[in-house]
Amino acid sequence: MAEFKQKHIIALRDLSKEEIELLLSTAESMREVNSRDIKKVPTLRGKTIINLFYEASTRTRTSFEIAGKRLSADTVNITTSSSSTTKGETLADTALNLLAMKPDIIVMRHAVSGSHYFLADKVNCSIINAGDGAHEHPSQGLLDMLTMKDHFGRLDGLKVAIVGDITHSRVARSNIQGLTKLGSSVFVAGPPTMMPPCVEKLGNVTVCANMKEAIQDADVVMMLRIQQERQGKTLMPNTREYSRYFGLNPLNVKLAKPNAIVMHPGPINRGVEMSSYVVDGEQSWILKQVENGVAVRMSMLYHVCGGEVTI
Ligand code: CP
Repeated sequence: MAEFKQKHIIALRDLSKEEIELLLSTAESMREVNSRDIKKVPTLRGKTIINLFYEASTRTRTSFEIAGKRLSADTVNITTSSSSTTKGETLADTALNLLAMKPDIIVMRHAVSGSHYFLADKVNCSIINAGDGAHEHPSQGLLDMLTMKDHFGRLDGLKVAIVGDITHSRVARSNIQGLTKLGSSVFVAGPPTMMPPCVEKLGNVTVCANMKEAIQDADVVMMLRIQQERQGKTLMPNTREYSRYFGLNPLNVKLAKPNAIVMHPGPINRGVEMSSYVVDGEQSWILKQVENGVAVRMSMLYHVCGGEVTI
């Protein structure tokens, strides 16, 4: 059995194939807790987790909080709009002040790529990345992989199409890192203005000339949100044209394999990257992704705390 030796989880790039597999198999065990009447185990009793979110979040923040509570940890949420960040306090000062209260884990979302490495250098508790700029979103990558594994029973040999704003997507980066380590082939498509240079060098990644090439015979079609808050300037003529060339609809979804699943990390711009027909259709596993988010985050919290207690 693999051991999890990481103190922090900042990027799937930093984890071995075995460590990712261990996080996924522990998440599978954690799911049993989530289906009980009383959804609580004493695994992290006495541990303190601070959720520090410098950017908006619905799914990630809520599920990290639920995950901590289901493991009996004490969880505290800080949103920067109501914290002393609004008075000009720096990230380092905020972290050092929070550290004085002796947390065991800080879960942080921050707009600056790499800010978690900066923080990990300054503190003695574990750091979990809940999304940093356009760099990585490891818990999303893990819950996406768990969802694919649920449907196909494996990740090895899958064709996964990722379509949209690849440049600004931390979700795409974490999925590429994790999926290619576990044997999937990733095909990316998007407007040239949203395709980072050298993305194919990240592993078994093929850059496609158009969306059709990416989703043809795919096992998984993962659509990405247009990251207008990160683009800085307009990278597409308008959303209607974007939707025409890179939107998933009832016609082009048929290019994927008949048993393919459709995924999206959320929040969705309905009618832009996906039609409502597909979002709410039979092939959509979007809410299953959200459900898996709790189990995956329980697994991450458990393992950075040493993972020694029986679940
Ligand atoms: N997928 C995701 O990160 O969603 P939130 O921004 O709502 O957390």
